[in-house]
Amino acid sequence: MRGTNSASTTPVLVTGVRGKTGVPLAELLGARPGVEVRGGSSDPSTVHLDGVRPTAFSWDDPSGWAAAAKDIDAVYVVRPDRADAPELVGALLAEVPAQARVVLLSERDPDHTGPDGWAPRAERAVRDSGRTWTILRPSWFMQVFTDPRFYRDLIVDAGELPFPAEDATVAWIDARDIAAVAERALLDGGHAGQVYELSGPQTLSLPRTAELLSAAAGRPVAHRQVTIAETVAGMSGFERDLSVLTFERVRAGRFAEVTETVERVTGRPARTLRAFLADTGSLTASR
Ligand SMILES: NC(=O)c1ccc[n+]([C@@H]2O[C@H](COP(=O)([O-])OP(=O)(O)OC[C@H]3O[C@@H](n4cnc5c(N)ncnc54)[C@H](OP(=O)(O)O)[C@@H]3O)[C@@H](O)[C@H]2O)c1
Repeated sequence: MRGTNSASTTPVLVTGVRGKTGVPLAELLGARPGVEVRGGSSDPSTVHLDGVRPTAFSWDDPSGWAAAAKDIDAVYVVRPDRADAPELVGALLAEVPAQARVVLLSERDPDHTGPDGWAPRAERAVRDSGRTWTILRPSWFMQVFTDPRFYRDLIVDAGELPFPAEDATVAWIDARDIAAVAERALLDGGHAGQVYELSGPQTLSLPRTAELLSAAAGRPVAHRQVTIAETVAGMSGFERDLSVLTFERVRAGRFAEVTETVERVTGRPARTLRAFLADTGSLTASR
């Protein structure tokens, strides 16, 4: 930890602190002595995490960025899934102190549509920022199964996992493992200029994934093969384009590869899906 801001504190801004990686990252940082965690959210009144200072941060309100980033030593950037993300990330980093470390949450295979696609441009905004950077490229998060914004309710209420994977496998990763890598990159030396390809410890077919969900939910859960068009029905614009691209990459096997990076960076193996589901218990808990 550098603590360049003062002798006693290392201020770190966590954007997306309510999100899947933001929550566990803020908890890890909050447990570290001497770290002042600024939990960035567009709705800071909803941020209730021990050791975390709720901080107004919205991609829609650049006027608040300077205050959120004032004197920080490091920033965790959860790339917003919107068309102007490359420009927004670049503009935010211009407000960040020149010596601050930057850790970007990107994704696997960002170059799928070529070097001038949306995802590589967001990464380039970080590389070209003049700040010390680390880029995280995770596979799909296990938390999509327990987040009501994604598959949880379908799993619990309908006993199904509709997912257009064809025969591809996915190396699901626990967002807590992404957070653990981010914590190291934000606070410790040795991660500058690194691009970390992150995955869980196993690559699983969707039928096998559904078996594990069944065991955790205590009810039958079946994988349902659906088309990408069915999956994105009701979406429009950038959200639709991004989702189509994501599922095309799933089918092309881009989320299948297992890497050792979590263990190499944190010293602890990445969690299995079975362990994740046992830990959360949220597929059986009442809502
Ligand atoms: N999900 C995956 O499997 C996956 C895999 C690889 C890469 N990624 C990338 O990771 C980034 C984050 O994606 P994500 O899907 O994991 O999103 P997330 O971090 O869980 O949530 C993103 C933001 O949505 C807002 N939000 C709105 N309603 C919320 C609610 N009920 N609970 C929590 N947050 C809420 C929060 O911002 P405010 O507090 O400001 O409202 C939050 O920070 C994206 O760039 C995505 O492309 C995701």
